[in-house]
Amino acid sequence: MAETITITDNRTGKTFEMPIENGGVDASVWAKQMPGTWFLDPGFTTTASTASTITELDGGNGILRYRGYPIEQLAEHSTFLEVCYLLLFGELPSAEQLDNWVHDVTYHTFIHENMRKRFMEGFHHDAHPMGMLVSAIAALSTFYPEAKEIEDPANRHVQINRLISKVPTLAAMAYRASIGMPFVYPDNTLTYSENFLSMMWRVAEPHYEADPVLARALDVLLILHADHEQNCSTTAMRVIGSSHADPYSAVAGATAALYGPRHGGANEAVIHMLNEIGSYENIPAFIESVKTGEGRLMGFGHRVYKAYDPRARLVKAHADEVFKVTGKNPLLDIALKLEEIALNDDYFKSRNLYPNVDFYTGLIYQAMNFPLDMFTVLFAIGRMPGWLSHWQESIEQDVKISRPRQVYTGTGERNYVPVSER
Ligand code: CMC
Repeated sequence: MAETITITDNRTGKTFEMPIENGGVDASVWAKQMPGTWFLDPGFTTTASTASTITELDGGNGILRYRGYPIEQLAEHSTFLEVCYLLLFGELPSAEQLDNWVHDVTYHTFIHENMRKRFMEGFHHDAHPMGMLVSAIAALSTFYPEAKEIEDPANRHVQINRLISKVPTLAAMAYRASIGMPFVYPDNTLTYSENFLSMMWRVAEPHYEADPVLARALDVLLILHADHEQNCSTTAMRVIGSSHADPYSAVAGATAALYGPRHGGANEAVIHMLNEIGSYENIPAFIESVKTGEGRLMGFGHRVYKAYDPRARLVKAHADEVFKVTGKNPLLDIALKLEEIALNDDYFKSRNLYPNVDFYTGLIYQAMNFPLDMFTVLFAIGRMPGWLSHWQESIEQDVKISRPRQVYTGTGERNYVPVSER
């Protein structure tokens, strides 16, 4: 028998049943039965905005799977570009499909020269690279006006390919501009992650050789960030996409949503926090200030995870590999102690607050020499396939334009009073 819930409107005595499917209740039944009565759910804490086949997240049990594959297996065995393929197309590629995909991504990494000359060089010298990235991605739409043809699957594929390929180039360009270094062109002989490191760090050497441990660590971090179902930025992507805007504009909006410290900006905020704490002795006072509401323990807590974030566990495990090459990040000990104290403190235990992905990523990025303001940019590169998979899925679902209702709590009608009489 189908599972249902029964609703009774106590004002009228009217009763109706709502079917429960896949753990969700179809709101269209409510809309028919209770027209004009809206669910008030700021922050969508109880609202499923879509059905999706891309990522399964069981926050109570700390489970994350892309298209059914556990994140732990993908982090151990896969590559970022293979994971992109999996997210975008639903299956792991055959060897030939993977070769073609890697080739297509590798050969679309160049950016129109006007982007660098006329656009990137126009930013102020200390512009934040996330601000530059948001703007640069939006500007790409002006180079590809055909991207508006979102109903055409072949055209969508070309734009998705371009975005996955070009965003690391734009990201590195933003960094090089911010330090006044000449732009490094992409190198097609390198892997995705090696090429990004080359565009970031190459100076005058004819060929940049990334340390294989660091290149692999970066690739794994990109895998761990690749998708996380209906988070703030992905929701922004779907909402903007629902108006049928082109994908560059939608990705620019998603990147802007990621920028904030409650979302992708948390990795940068964690390092600021650890720097402010400075030493072991200051940890108890800091924890107290968090408990009294003065501060927030950045890199802790999550809307969906009520257990240890599996990505944080994997990042923590990889940190040791990285530190063997780079030397230990001196902030690591403070982070470990902070975690130990928080995990044994009732305030954090009773609220199910555990480290999230951002708690340890910043330590790795910093050890790899990335400046703080590039951390969220790295998150954006990783999240690109997730945003694009959800965008593509929402177009295929032919979703309605996103247009929530509100519960109006302002004043009733009143008459305009001329300024001289106020
Ligand atoms: N430090 C201290 N208290 C916290 C924290 C924290 N990091 N996170 C949540 N709480 C408390 C919060 O004060 C509230 O307490 P009370 O019930 O007494 O009012 C309770 O826990 C529930 O928190 P909430 O703010 O209602 O939870 P939320 O689901 O709205 O917020 C969050 C989720 C991620 C925005 C929040 O946990 C936070 O601000 N964390 C720090 C920022 C951070 O690390 N963000 C990265 C998230 S993971 C990467 C990503 O996907 O973006």
